[in-house]
Amino acid sequence: MESNPNSAFFQHHSLNYIEMAMRTDRMERIQNPDGYSKKKGDCGDMVEFFLKGNREKIKSVSFMVQGCMNTVACSNTVAEFTQGKSSETAWDITPEQVIEFLETLPRDHYHCAELCVGAFYLALVDMTLGKPGYY
Ligand code: FES
Repeated sequence: MESNPNSAFFQHHSLNYIEMAMRTDRMERIQNPDGYSKKKGDCGDMVEFFLKGNREKIKSVSFMVQGCMNTVACSNTVAEFTQGKSSETAWDITPEQVIEFLETLPRDHYHCAELCVGAFYLALVDMTLGKPGYY
């Protein structure tokens, strides 16, 4: 009997991963963001972050991903950890935190966490220092 690939996905992933991979409400292109970045990984995946806010408070974190579901899960996790925080606190986010939170990010996709956190740092630089975050 053939197994359903969807049930394999739900069996093999943590609840945190499933929520972060499926959540779509933060996937949007914001007009006139206070912080913006665009970063392409070696694998070809592309992540854009859009921040609204200032040094005292990041009011919203949105993103767009051209890439895999792991990258979506990592971007949502970055947004979850940083929205509502001060820029100083938001700098503390690391790829390791993202990997730990998601629990089931495949080891061969840890670079997705590095790409997303790196892209987020660039958006923070743009928001706090006014330096464009395109690399
Ligand atoms: Fe490369 Fe996701 S597969 S960033």
